[in-house]
Amino acid sequence: MSDRTVLTGIVGETFQPITRNVPAEEPPELPPNAELRVIGKPVNRVDAVPKVMGKARYTYDVQLPGMLYARIVSSTVPHARIKSIDTSAAEAYPGVKAVHILDRVLSIAQLRDPGAEANESYPLVRYNGQPIAAVAAVTARAAKAAAKLVRIEYERFPHVTGLEEAMRDDAPVVFSGPTEQAATAGGGGAPPGLPQKGNLRGPARGGLGGGGRGDVQQGFAQADHVLTREYRTQVQTHTPMETHGLVADWRDEELTLYASTQFTLSVRDEAAEVFKLPKEKIRVISEFTGGGFGAKFGIGNYGVLAIHLSRKARAPVRLVLDRREEHVSVGNRPSSLQRVKLGAKRDGTITALQVESFGTGGVAAGAGVGFAHTAMYPIPNLAVEHYDVFTDAGPCAAFRAPGQVQGIFALEQALDELAHELKMDPLALREKIDTNDTDDSRARKVERRVGAERAGWSKHRPPATDSGPIKRGMGVAQSQWAYVVHGTTTCEVRIRGDGSVIALNGAQDIGTGTRTVMAQTVAEELGLRVEDIDARIGDSRYPAGAASGGSRVTSSITPAARNAAYLAARDLAGRVAQSLGAKPDEIVFQDGRIFVRGRPERGMTFVEAVRKANFDEIVHRADRREDYDGYRIKLGDLHISRHGIGGVQFAEVAVDTETGVVKVERIVAVHDCGRPINPKLIESQIYGGVLQGVSFALYEERQLDPGTGVQLNANIDQYKIVGARETPAIEVHVIEQLGRQSSTDARGVAEPANVATAAAIANAFYNATGKRIRTLPMNPANVLAALRADEGQP
Ligand code: MOS
Repeated sequence: MSDRTVLTGIVGETFQPITRNVPAEEPPELPPNAELRVIGKPVNRVDAVPKVMGKARYTYDVQLPGMLYARIVSSTVPHARIKSIDTSAAEAYPGVKAVHILDRVLSIAQLRDPGAEANESYPLVRYNGQPIAAVAAVTARAAKAAAKLVRIEYERFPHVTGLEEAMRDDAPVVFSGPTEQAATAGGGGAPPGLPQKGNLRGPARGGLGGGGRGDVQQGFAQADHVLTREYRTQVQTHTPMETHGLVADWRDEELTLYASTQFTLSVRDEAAEVFKLPKEKIRVISEFTGGGFGAKFGIGNYGVLAIHLSRKARAPVRLVLDRREEHVSVGNRPSSLQRVKLGAKRDGTITALQVESFGTGGVAAGAGVGFAHTAMYPIPNLAVEHYDVFTDAGPCAAFRAPGQVQGIFALEQALDELAHELKMDPLALREKIDTNDTDDSRARKVERRVGAERAGWSKHRPPATDSGPIKRGMGVAQSQWAYVVHGTTTCEVRIRGDGSVIALNGAQDIGTGTRTVMAQTVAEELGLRVEDIDARIGDSRYPAGAASGGSRVTSSITPAARNAAYLAARDLAGRVAQSLGAKPDEIVFQDGRIFVRGRPERGMTFVEAVRKANFDEIVHRADRREDYDGYRIKLGDLHISRHGIGGVQFAEVAVDTETGVVKVERIVAVHDCGRPINPKLIESQIYGGVLQGVSFALYEERQLDPGTGVQLNANIDQYKIVGARETPAIEVHVIEQLGRQSSTDARGVAEPANVATAAAIANAFYNATGKRIRTLPMNPANVLAALRADEGQP
């Protein structure tokens, strides 16, 4: 380790010299992007052409010799014990090669019921659509027909699907025994071990940032204004372009899994655990994943079924979920009901914040409301309590900034309400209270200024200015998310004897551009072009990759890639420096050449240098080192910095007060992500985040029939998602922040991009109409109800 003095700050603002204790082998700090050749440039995706040509192979496209097609048999009742299952007719169906019944049901969150396992020969059904068995056949049509022939006899129990119904004392109880589940990323919830009464588990007072500090009663006593409000958000189901799917190829020698996944190694590790196999005997391949927003980790019930079927049939089996199964059984953003009490002085100083939240993730826990209440502003007196409420509905999963989207919808709207009560500009209120000593707080200060200029904030009008039925307005909200690093990330760089370069990492690409950022980083270090780098990913046999969750791929992979490329460059320099009459550390790599620093004529092309050095291949591997500034929390491979990422978004809406239709006309999104590695990819992620936020704010909502527990809109006709017609003008601005915490300074951007959108739209709704909308989605029914309501309490 050695102390280095480095300049930190936001490009275009003032830099601060800071001393960082950096491992001696780390490459020197990179200059700002303006001085770089490849990093920071809006290069096209390296795999854009195969994608648009339809040549990119997604799991859905995998075809293997002798491959079978599988279909799942799901429950048709919301709560029951399975008395018997008769698979004989399905097994006799022509073309059927194997049938498998789950002996235990894993939910997304690995929900288990130890009591049921011990006492029941078959698992309990706790929601309509719960996977029970699967059938594999030579054609998809035969598998589907045979799946319908599986006969299941149920002993029905009472059920409950609504949040508030499930909270009643006399509600049917979803779980009678103890339950257990894996932690849900980010949003948290009420962990096992907390008191459980009826369907309520909690209160949880922990979570990122801690659930409490100071004394809220004292804080409210000091306040000039106290505001009490209730906010509700709906269940949003996961709707990636490619549904969950797995192709399992069980052989005696090894198990190969092709997976639509957010983390190849989670697929390997879960398969190893469930099937008691050594990890080395499992290979996971994920060349392309058609989207993943938090629910595509591990193998899931469908994966367990596919692997069993492949073992039984001794043939590869493809099991890809249909759209109904995707909506119902593999995850959703849980609902929330948040009671917020906010106390402030006349000048905007917040004296206390109290939040009581309830949320349902169906049969899974993890319906927390994030950490914004506790972490975004340094509020002195704080109490946050959360209850998970179980219902007979499909399990929740992490979903793009889990919890935080719900939490910020409430918090940022409550602050807007407070600003209006105090007759303060909402931005000025944030300016006053957003004063943490963190990079993200410093970034938001710049983002508020830049965003206000771009959005034309100074021209925004008082609430309800328009006199006609269509009312327009502007609102603002902030977002915050964790800056996360994946602990074990390794990249390998190979320079081949012909001058070609290969970079390897096992991570998958869920659509963000993993290959491209890795290729850019290696190209920059070796003085080459992006297209000179053959970036290979998506294979568990490659060096360990990061999980595509928590916005951590770019922050994890690029430093490892740079470190490996740096070692390779130094190696090559050492082999040719003498022939240039120079010392190795005087050799620079630039524009496809290597030459003596300051003497570009004393050099040769990269390929000539490789030929001169005369090797078959040189191989260097390097790890993603720990952040130079350390971490606040380490949970396994999830390393969380005390600095964050985030942004500020401005929304302009038009509300038709006669029909209740809201149109988002424009979003200005200003974000930070450390050093932007590829502005084009970042912009693309922010577009996606904003669209997903608009979709959540205005349209998406799971509709369950209370009588049967059936999801009524488990398809993409009736489950409305934002489309081209509802897409607003989106203006993205990304700031460049050099934190000097790794060899590339890259951080994530994917999750914060959709965090502030719904709150900004809600604040714009108020500015347009003079009425608050505290219940999502802003569909005509909720909008008209909000417009009719008396101002004040909901
Ligand atoms: Mo995500 S919700 O970090 O996959």
